[in-house]
Amino acid sequence: MGMCVMDFPRRGDWGSRPGSPGWRMGCPGSRWLWLCTLRLLCIVPAGEPVQRGDRDTNAGFPKAMDNVTVRQGDNAVLRCAIDSGVTRVAWLNRSSILYAGKDKWATDPRVVLLTNSKTEYSIEIQGVDVYDEGAYTCSVQTHNHPKTSQVHVIVQVPPQIVNISNSISVNEGSNVTLLCLAIGRPEPVVTWRHLSPPVRGFASEDEYLEITGISKEQAGDYECQAVNEVSSPDVRKVQIIVNYAPYMSDGRSVGAAVGQKGILRCEAFAVPLAEFEWYKEEQRLSNGLNGVQIKNIDGKSMLTFFNVSEEDYGNYTCVAINKLGFSNTSVLLFGLNPVYRAAVKSGYPANMGLTSHPVLLCLFCVSLVSLATGKPCHRC
Ligand SMILES: *[C@@H]1O[C@H](CO)[C@@H](O)[C@H](O)[C@H]1NC(C)=O
Ligand SMILES: *[C@@H]1O[C@H](CO)[C@@H](O)[C@H](O)[C@H]1NC(C)=O
Ligand SMILES: *[C@@H]1O[C@H](CO)[C@@H](O)[C@H](O)[C@H]1NC(C)=O
Ligand SMILES: *[C@@H]1O[C@H](CO)[C@@H](O)[C@H](O)[C@H]1NC(C)=O
Ligand SMILES: *[C@@H]1O[C@H](CO)[C@@H](O)[C@H](O)[C@H]1NC(C)=O
Ligand SMILES: *[C@@H]1O[C@H](CO)[C@@H](O)[C@H](O)[C@H]1NC(C)=O
Ligand SMILES: *[C@@H]1O[C@H](CO)[C@@H](O)[C@H](O)[C@H]1NC(C)=O
Repeated sequence: MGMCVMDFPRRGDWGSRPGSPGWRMGCPGSRWLWLCTLRLLCIVPAGEPVQRGDRDTNAGFPKAMDNVTVRQGDNAVLRCAIDSGVTRVAWLNRSSILYAGKDKWATDPRVVLLTNSKTEYSIEIQGVDVYDEGAYTCSVQTHNHPKTSQVHVIVQVPPQIVNISNSISVNEGSNVTLLCLAIGRPEPVVTWRHLSPPVRGFASEDEYLEITGISKEQAGDYECQAVNEVSSPDVRKVQIIVNYAPYMSDGRSVGAAVGQKGILRCEAFAVPLAEFEWYKEEQRLSNGLNGVQIKNIDGKSMLTFFNVSEEDYGNYTCVAINKLGFSNTSVLLFGLNPVYRAAVKSGYPANMGLTSHPVLLCLFCVSLVSLATGKPCHRC
């Protein structure tokens, strides 16, 4: 900025804007002589040694305060300490005069005069915005020597996330990129964290969260944080749903006596949740037919026989299906002979595992062998 854009009006042109017809170059009235020198001064680049010289030789007059740090929307007070030798004072924004003495030059209503005394000359900028940031100059005339002192207004803005990716649903193995854009002054630091399950450390330390070949463990909530020193962080959450084909834990075979109730269960992990089908050999089973009920809750399926008969014994297949694929597992419904029933009746806890007692283990083995071979087994 080597150019001086400040100019001053002829008398009667108060309040008109630089560049408007009322303005012209030159230094007309004697009263404005010092303003003319202001105009020359602003050709001198900011931070010139002249300024430092002022402070050294003149005991700090004029003396503007240190830099002013103010939050966007707050008011900034610019103070300038002066001494009695001062005859004229002004505050400038870059090269345009805001106030000269008690006279307002700025058209901006946010700029007001606070103090115009023998010792202090202060103005206030109300509702500071980011474009107000920059150098402001207190300029004084003492014994025909213009002197200046500069203060920087630094505008702070709390962190704010202005654009963030939507929650998404992707298939396992996909590449995922999430974006989180934030504004603020100073520029906020943006990070991503995986919330569920909570993992130590960051998933990403910038605006982009990039996941190559996403796994089902990487599904869940991700949190974007924008942090600067101005106020508390801005935080937003994004959910990544990872779809995958069903996979099943092994089914458990179940023994049930004729005339009793028998329940076969299977469980599938899948996103979206799996639908279930039950087969006996090639035959698909229907809910409500032949005294069976099929009930599906939260990825689990239950096949209930209300009144087990001989024909119900056999090998059942549970098939779990979603849009990405299917999986199946087989379980047996096997018969319990009277010895077992007697054992249960005579006080073995009903929930005792089949493998926890030699007799029961043997019975279990007999039933399986019978089913597999079709022949009875009398080895026990
Ligand atoms: C005031 O702010 C300016 C611009 O940011 C900087 O160059 C200068 O060092 C600051 N001065 C003080 C005293 O902090
Ligand atoms: C200071 O000058 C800048 C640049 O011309 C302008 O955008 C801003 O509004 C001015 N601020 C005040 C308080 O005059
Ligand atoms: C957010 O960022 C994306 C990607 O850069 C862009 O396509 C979209 O228009 C932005 N949305 C808003 C509201 O700025
Ligand atoms: C995912 O990214 C990797 C590495 O950048 C690339 O090799 C692969 O082709 C991408 N996969 C898809 C489905 O875009
Ligand atoms: C179970 O089925 C048998 C043979 O079909 C029948 O005799 C019996 O009454 C049924 N029991 C119940 C409780 O439905
Ligand atoms: C049940 O049937 C499935 C296939 O339909 C087979 O793989 C499995 O071995 C059978 N189980 C028994 C105990 O026969
Ligand atoms: C069970 O899965 C196997 C492959 O894993 C498939 O060949 C078979 O047909 C499936 N059984 C049923 C009843 O869907």
